[in-house]
Amino acid sequence: MTNVVVIGAQWGDEGKGKIVDWLSERADVVVRFQGGANAGHTLVIDGVTYKLSLLPSGIVRAGKMAVIGNGVVIDPWKLADEIEGIRQQGVEVSRENLRIAENATLILPLHRELDGLREQLAGKGKIGTTGRGIGPAYEDKVGRRAIRVHDLVNEETLPRKIERLLAHHNPLRRGLGVEEIDPEELLRQLKDIAPKILPYMDCVWQLLDEHKRAGRRILFEGAQGTFLDIDHGTYPFVTSSNTVAGNAATGSGVGPSTLEFVLGIAKAYTTRVGAGPFPTELNDEIGQRIGERGREFGTVTGRARRCGWFDAVLVRQAVKNSGVDGIAFTKLDVLDGLDELKICVGYELDGERIDRLPAGQGAQARVKPIYETMPGWQESTYGARSWNDLPAQAVKYIRHIEELIECPITLVSTSPEREDTILVKDPFED
Ligand code: GDP
Ligand code: IMO
Ligand code: MG
Repeated sequence: MTNVVVIGAQWGDEGKGKIVDWLSERADVVVRFQGGANAGHTLVIDGVTYKLSLLPSGIVRAGKMAVIGNGVVIDPWKLADEIEGIRQQGVEVSRENLRIAENATLILPLHRELDGLREQLAGKGKIGTTGRGIGPAYEDKVGRRAIRVHDLVNEETLPRKIERLLAHHNPLRRGLGVEEIDPEELLRQLKDIAPKILPYMDCVWQLLDEHKRAGRRILFEGAQGTFLDIDHGTYPFVTSSNTVAGNAATGSGVGPSTLEFVLGIAKAYTTRVGAGPFPTELNDEIGQRIGERGREFGTVTGRARRCGWFDAVLVRQAVKNSGVDGIAFTKLDVLDGLDELKICVGYELDGERIDRLPAGQGAQARVKPIYETMPGWQESTYGARSWNDLPAQAVKYIRHIEELIECPITLVSTSPEREDTILVKDPFED
């Protein structure tokens, strides 16, 4: 295998950043293909923490090419800040190791503002977005009025693009009772930021094709998770992009046959940040304990993440939706010391047993988890680097989950540190 796609198999924050960083030692190119600065990917390398939002996690390793594909929505101000921040941590960023797609959509201040306004107006129905303008930017992309990276090159045509965009936004803003956007002001802001991001602009599909033909290994880094997918997730409590593996092709301009191995990332339990259904949520001291031990606070917004038992129904569905070949099972150490562990193996919906998450919003809210209970383990798994270091009961938990989700567990993660990872089967050597 020369190309691997990493996706989240739950509701995001599964530990994708750590796994992508670890795998990127074996890759040459690391590509983001969807989402934007709503992502928060944490890497811990020799005690130093790096938090990445828009930059692919491969950026921290010297000699790797980090690529932001066309499927990403790029907030150029956030990107410039993030580049600055990571430089201050000693990471070099230049055209040598960062490229951004010329056909990627830009997030503008008006998108961030609209994201916030919509959430305010939604009251109890709010989604709990990250407030990064993700939804409004994707709407403009699909509405064919977005400003894209390449539009910043041509100062002659940019005013017309702005006019087209504001023909939609200013009437909307009038309706919402907020000040209209002055096209001159937006033009000035864009001209100011352009020199900070244009140096990285490239034709990404062509760049990836060249790397492929040179036999280099490409790692595709997903953001969010399967149940935040705009089609397959818990709609409308989702993000505005496809988070499943298929989008790695569309979001970067390679064909689907390029995606050779799909690695799904799943936590040993379940978390969710923001509103929406969560069948195995624990509103008790066990949920609280998992949240504390797992330090479950959002990387982007600092919000406490909701915690619950591992849901095998969900992860099995994610395996099917992305054609997952192997699962990286993360945060096993967080479950150390619990007397017993529950695993959701099916749902009850209106008196009947079902084996998938239903599509309807009402039904998703009504499903009740059906649990199997297994004994826990008292030994520490924190920092374990080999299968033999795992207690027998932890191995049994992993083996049983493999059966339930119909997919092998090919990696296990036992701490935030890069090297605290157990490799069962190397996706690049499959
Ligand atoms: P991502 O969005 O999928 O990249 O995940 P986040 O970085 O938002 O959240 C995962 C959190 O768990 C981060 O703070 C990681 O440092 C941490 N983490 C990752 N793997 C492990 C693990 O195996 N054990 C523990 N205890 N923490 C982990
Ligand atoms: P990573 O890549 C967890 C959630 C938000 C909200 C919903 C919509 O770190 O796993 P948005 O701002 O995208 O319109 O918010 O999606 N969300 C995430 N939850 N991890 C993420 O990214 C997320 N990105 C968005 O909390 O419920
Ligand atoms: Mg995250």
